[in-house]
Order: sequence, then C-alpha cells, then structure tokens
Amino acid sequence: MFPERFTTIRGLDPKDLCSLLLLTSRMKSHPERYSALLRGKTLLQFFVENSTRTRMSFEAATRKLGGSSIAFAASTSSFQKGETLVDTAKVIQQYGVDGMIVRHRSVGAPDLLADATGLPVINAGDGSHEHPTQALLDAFTLTEHWGLDSQDALGKAEFPFRGKRVMILGDLRHSRVARSNIHFLTALGAEVHLCGPTPLMIPDLSYFPAVHTHSFPDRGASGVISSMDAVMTLRIQVERQNQGNIPSLTEYREFWGLTRERATRLKPGAVVLHPGPVNRGVEIDAEVADSASSLILKQVENGVYARMAVLAKVFSKESAGVLS
Ligand code: CP
Repeated sequence: MFPERFTTIRGLDPKDLCSLLLLTSRMKSHPERYSALLRGKTLLQFFVENSTRTRMSFEAATRKLGGSSIAFAASTSSFQKGETLVDTAKVIQQYGVDGMIVRHRSVGAPDLLADATGLPVINAGDGSHEHPTQALLDAFTLTEHWGLDSQDALGKAEFPFRGKRVMILGDLRHSRVARSNIHFLTALGAEVHLCGPTPLMIPDLSYFPAVHTHSFPDRGASGVISSMDAVMTLRIQVERQNQGNIPSLTEYREFWGLTRERATRLKPGAVVLHPGPVNRGVEIDAEVADSASSLILKQVENGVYARMAVLAKVFSKESAGVLS
C-alpha cells in the first residue's frame, strides 16, 4: 500500500520502490495514457526554499497528468509580515487545494503540514533530511542506464541493483539527496559507498542501513573510486556550512572533486551523476559533467516522469487499476 504522505524513502520496501520505478518507466514510454489521472485536482507547489529542477518538473508533471497547480512565492507572500508556515498552509487550503508539494529548509516541515491540514503531502526536500523524489529519479536513471527498467527486471528480481557499487561523494552531512539515496539504493541491493571529508560525513550512520565509508576517493594504488559502477557527486552546500568543515574550495576540489584527472581512474562504463545545481570546478569539473559518462541531463529529464509516478500514486487512489 502506497502512503498518502510521501515524505521519506525510509521504510518503503523493495516491492514499493520497484513498483515506483516501473511506473516511472511507463510514464516515460506512454505519458498520454495517464493524461487525465489528475483531472479536477489542484496541487499547491509550496516551495519556501529555492528550486529550479524540482519545482519546474513537479509543475510539468502535474500538467501532463491533467491537473493544475497553484504556485506559492515566499518572497512576495505574507510570510514577510510574520505569518507562520502552518497558518499560511491553512489559508491556501481554503482555496480548494487537494494536496501539497513542500520544500522547506526545516527538517520535518512536510510532515508538520500534513498533520496540520490533513492533506496528502509530497516532500520536495526538507533541510538535510530527505529528498525522496530525487532518489527515485536517480535510481530510475541508473535503472534505465543499466537496462533494468523492464517488467521482468523490476517485477521479478527482489534486489535489481545487487552487484552494483555506487559511491556518493562530497558533502554528505548536509545532503538530503544522499540520505534518500542511501535508503533507496540499499533497499534495491546496491553496495553503497560514502566518501567525503570527515566533518562532512553523516554524523549518525546507525540510523541507516549498512554502508561503506571512505575519507578519500583515491588513496591507495588507484583508490576505491576505480571499483564503482556509478559515482554520484554532491553539491557543496555553501549556505549550510559551518566554518572549518573544509579548508577551502580549492582544497576540496583537489582531494574530493571529480576532476578530469580523477575521472580517468573510473572503471570503463562507470557513470557520473549529480542532483544539481552543479558548482562547476568545485565538486565536479565541467569536462566531466559534460562528458559521455555523465547522466546529469538524463536525471533532469527523468525528473518529470519520476514525479508523475509519485503524483499518480499519492493523488490518484481511485485510479489504482490503471497504475498497477
Ligand atoms: N536537485 C534539486 O533538488 O534541484 P533544485 O534545487 O533545482 O530543485
């Protein structure tokens, strides 16, 4: 049973996740089949933190499913006069919204709003907690790249990513993308390796399934990075850093950045991902981000279909037959 509140990947079982991946694949192959799923539904795009990809892809996905959106603009709203988050949500609820897509810098804001309004809520990124639809689009992009996006691969294999090694590299401490991906990738059987400066490691890994940790990507002969099937680089979140986490951006690039030189040590066929926005020349060199092994623009494209799948599952219970 799919939850009405999609705020975390944690706790979803591999069957739920494979079902989401399969639906994403179907949305991409035949979007026209789903063009009336959200007819008559209005969704609030409640973004109280900046976004390009997530916000625009949710809007595109809602439109492709036949629904409509109300966009909230925090900078021109009565937030600026001191109205609270919950009061703002309850006000907009009176305009007849059927659900909310929420981004906020505070951990738990989407759940708070779901409790306060009783509406279905999708987490579009809450602080350093989770970004579940990003993990779905990342996993789908890998599934597609590895040729696992079929009914056979996703419907029969319990752990379709078994045997795959994925490194998540960079500012793990502040990354909601990393947290959602750890849950998603390990649930599907991938071996997940976290790598980054010690102050930027996730502080309490006991909350997560078992992962491997590394302080550097390429210490030793050629380093652990050369055994990965995929490397997911993360944005250095300058706005969330305390002083002293990294000596400087120049040193970050030298020791942890996916530089052109470091990328030559990737094994043949390995792919590179980044959730965006990209700091070119810091966590990844432009030549690597734009190379044939980069799936970055494919991730952006797949974001629309992944979000269509989640919207359909959360907001279209009556259409369950069409989705199964
Ligand atoms: N990946 C991601 O969440 O990008 P945006 O901040 O542009 O939505």
